[in-house]
Amino acid sequence: MSRDDLFRAPKGVHDVLPPESGRWARIVATFAERARRYGYGLAITPMFEHLEVFQRVGEHTDVVSKEMYELTDKGGRRLGLRPEGTASVVRAYVQHRPTPPWKVWYVAPNFRYERAQKGRYRQHWQLGIEALGVDDPDVDVEVIALLAGFYRDVGLTGTRLLLNSMGDAATRPGYVAALRTHFETHGAALGEEFLERVAANPLRVLDSKVEPWQDVIESAPQLTDHLSDAAATQFEAVQAGLRALGIDFELAPRLVRGFDYYTATTFEFQSDALGAAQSAVGGGGRYDGLAEEMGGPPTPGIGFGTGIERIVLALDALAADVTPPGIDVFVVDGVGPAGGTTVGTLTEALRAEGLAVDRAYGGRSVKAQWRSADRSGARVAVMVGRDELTRDAVAVKDLGSGEQVEVSRTGLVAWLLERKEQA
Ligand code: HAM
Repeated sequence: MSRDDLFRAPKGVHDVLPPESGRWARIVATFAERARRYGYGLAITPMFEHLEVFQRVGEHTDVVSKEMYELTDKGGRRLGLRPEGTASVVRAYVQHRPTPPWKVWYVAPNFRYERAQKGRYRQHWQLGIEALGVDDPDVDVEVIALLAGFYRDVGLTGTRLLLNSMGDAATRPGYVAALRTHFETHGAALGEEFLERVAANPLRVLDSKVEPWQDVIESAPQLTDHLSDAAATQFEAVQAGLRALGIDFELAPRLVRGFDYYTATTFEFQSDALGAAQSAVGGGGRYDGLAEEMGGPPTPGIGFGTGIERIVLALDALAADVTPPGIDVFVVDGVGPAGGTTVGTLTEALRAEGLAVDRAYGGRSVKAQWRSADRSGARVAVMVGRDELTRDAVAVKDLGSGEQVEVSRTGLVAWLLERKEQA
C-alpha cells in the first residue's frame, strides 16, 4: 500500500461530511422524534463486546461466523466489534434487568467484513429499536408501524413490506428436518456447494438467489404451513393489526433473515430504488429466546434495524430531498475593529432567538463577506455598518431580490422572525 493510500479511509468505509451530513442529522432527528412518540428511550451500548455476546451457541450465520471484526486487547480479552445492535441491547437488558416492558432505540455504527459495494459497507450505521419483555402481537404491529411511519416522515416512498413467521421453538426443529430431507432428496444433483449449504443450515438456502437452485427451493415445504397453533394465531393477529392500520404487506414464506435468533414474526422493508442485490432498507423480527441464551430470564423481544446509508441511497434514487434548511441569516461586518464586539454579540443574540446564523471571520473585506453571504444559502444578510451603527440600526438585505432596508436593532429579531415565517 502506498503512503498516499494509508491516509485515505480504508476500503468499505466512508466519511459523512457537510452538506451530506445535514441529511443524516435530519434523518436521525426524525427517527428520534418518532421513537419518543412511541415511548422508546435512547440506549447507547459499547462499540465492542466480549465475542460471546455475538457468537452465542446456535448463532452460525455469516454475519457472526465470517464477517465479524474480532480482536484481542492488550489484556488478552477476546472482543468483537458490534456487527448489529440487537445482541448488544439484549446483553444490556440481561446485565441491568430493567423492568419490562423495556423499549429502547439506538443509532450506532456496525462493522461487518463484507464484500464492499454500493449499499454494502464494512461500517454502516443503523437506526433501530428493541422492545423486550412483551409477547403481544400488538407490539409487533407497533414496531412495524413505527418503521413504516418513519419512512413516510423522511419521504421514502415505494417500499414493500415483506412479512413471515419463523414459528416457535416447538415447531422449528420439525420444519428444519423436513426442509433438509426435501433438499437432500430433490437437490442431490445440484452439487457440493448446495449440499454443504443444506448441511450447514437448510433455512439459509431458502432465500438463496442461485438460479439452478430455484426449482427445488420453490417446491420446498413452507414454514408458515408448519406453524404450531399458538404461532399461527399470533401471526394472524399481527396481520390483522397491520390491516387495521392500513399498512400494506406481502406474505413472504421464503424470507429468512440473516440471524439464527429469530422466532415468530420477521419482516423486511425493501426498496426497488436500491437495486436487487441490496434491496433491504430495514428489517427485524422477534427473538424470544435470545435473552435466555445470554443467561437472562426468558424474555420475549422484537425490534428492527434500518441502515442510514441505504435510506440516503434510496432517497437519492427517488430524488427525494431531506436536506435540512440551511442558515437563515448571514451577518456581514461593515465596521471592522472599530465596532468592537458588536458583530459577535449581535450574532449570538440572533442565535439565542432560534435563528440559524453564520458570519464571516478574520477581518475580511466587506466585498469578500458579501460573496460569502451569497454562497451561504441564507435568505437574508444583516450588515453592521458604520452609519447604521450611529443610529443603533443595521442594514438588512434580501439576498434573493437584492432589496435592502434599514431596521432598528431593537426591532431586528421580530423583523427576521416574521420574514422567516413568511418563507
Ligand atoms: P440486518 O438485516 O442485518 O438486521 O440489518 C438491518 C439493516 O442494516 C439492513 O436492512 C440494511 O439497511 C442495513 N445494513 C446491514 N448490513 C449493511 C451493510 N453491510 N452496509 C450497509 N447497510 C447495511 C440486523 O442487523 C438486526 N439487528 C435487525 C433487528 C433488530 N432484528 C431485531 N431487532
